[in-house]
Formats: sequence, structure tokens, C-alpha cells
Amino acid sequence: MEKGTLLYEGKAKQLFQTDDPEVIWVEYLNQATALNGAKKDQISGKGELNNQITGLIFDFLESKGISNHFIKRLSTNEQLIQTVDIIPLEVVVRNIAAGSFSRRLAIPEGTPLKTPIVEFYYKKDELDDPMVVDDHIRTLELATTDEITQLRQMALEVDDALIELFDSIDIRLVDFKLEFGRQKDGTILLADEVSPDTCRLWDKKTNEHLDKDIYRRDLGDIIPVYQEVLNRLEKRGE
Ligand code: TMP
Repeated sequence: MEKGTLLYEGKAKQLFQTDDPEVIWVEYLNQATALNGAKKDQISGKGELNNQITGLIFDFLESKGISNHFIKRLSTNEQLIQTVDIIPLEVVVRNIAAGSFSRRLAIPEGTPLKTPIVEFYYKKDELDDPMVVDDHIRTLELATTDEITQLRQMALEVDDALIELFDSIDIRLVDFKLEFGRQKDGTILLADEVSPDTCRLWDKKTNEHLDKDIYRRDLGDIIPVYQEVLNRLEKRGE
């Protein structure tokens, strides 16, 4: 498979064409951003860690029957994915109060939620990704009623699977963000990445942050922490 021209450059990844229109070549970058890009740094080794972690997690989700765009890892910082048309929604699932949820509703971080909460945010940098409800999503024609139902259901299936995965490596899954895409025939696939950049992961014993909050909140170096998540996932797979 040939790496072709650059199709898209995001905050953490570059997407390249290949000789197969159904396949995209992804390169994970060493860039970290927060506050919608206002805080930005190059962190050597981050791309490699997220590429490897995402690959392992997408393989696990596939084994649980959750269709996703991951095809295979090519190198430490590259992977092949299926071409999809990304739905411009960030789908956030929360199991424990934290982050914007705690700030907005004055619910202390660490409060367990009785049932998982699914939230939708409109992916639009100029608007700072506002939270939207189903009626907004339909009005903006981002997804149909059936698709919204499917997104919610898939997000909750991912939640069940990821809780099991992280629990087995002594990590509490606090919350996470997913993105989905449509294939040509309309089938919805889980897309983008699932990594410590997009999840809040707390060590079960120490409550230590094993995720991007280390960077967002200036708590230290993310590399040893992301490496710890990768090590635990790899050890589990042995
Ligand atoms: P929040 O508490 O800031 O709304 O974040 C909820 C979860 O979603 C958290 O695990 C971080 C993740 N997330 C992203 O991956 N990208 C984003 O742009 C945002 C806002 C959150």
C-alpha cells in the first residue's frame, strides 16, 4: 500500500490518501493541544503511544462486536483505517463526574453517576464545540433521528466494553469522547481514536490521573503515564 497526498491535518493526526480510496493512512503526531488549541506543545513520543494504545483498544472493541474503522497498525506511529465520512459530533460518555460536567453542574469530581450519561457536542472550532441536544442535531442536519439512536446505543456499548477492559488493568473509566463516521452505504462505524487523549482514566488504587488531564492541568509529564497505560494493555494481552 502506497502513502499518497495529505488529505487532512488535525491537532493530533495527519491523514493521507492511499492507492485504495477505501483506505486512509494515519500518522499520529507528537502534538498536544488543550483549550481548543490555545495551549499547544510538541511532546516527543506521544504520537507513538496513542497510535499503539488506539490500535489495541480498537482490536478489543472489534472482538466485542463493535464495528470500527481500524484496519491495522503499520508502525509505531502509523495505522491504516477505513475511509468514512466523519459525523461532526463528539459523543461523550460519562460514568463519574469530572471536567466540564463537574464545572457546569457543580457536582464534585469523582462523584459516581447512577447511569452513564451520553452528551453530544457539535464539532465546530469557531463555536468552541457547543453541546447540542437531539433537536439541534436534526435542525443542523448533522444526523437523522435513527442515527442519533444508533450513536447513543453504540456509545453505551463502547462504554460497557471499555469499563471491562480498563477494570481488568486496574483503571477506572471516568469519561471519554468518541467520533463516528458513515461508510458509503450509510453504515456507522466508530472512528477517530480512543486513547488517554480522549478518555479520563484514573488508577483504581491511587486515583492518579493516567490521561491528558496531566497536560491540561499542568500536573507533569504525560509520557510516563501514557506508557503505563500501554504497558498495562500489552501485559493484559499476553
Ligand atoms: P469534558 O469534561 O472536558 O467535557 O471532557 C469529557 C471527556 O471527553 C474527557 O475524557 C475528555 C474528552 N474530550 C476530548 O477527547 N476532546 C474534546 O475536545 C473534549 C472537550 C473532551
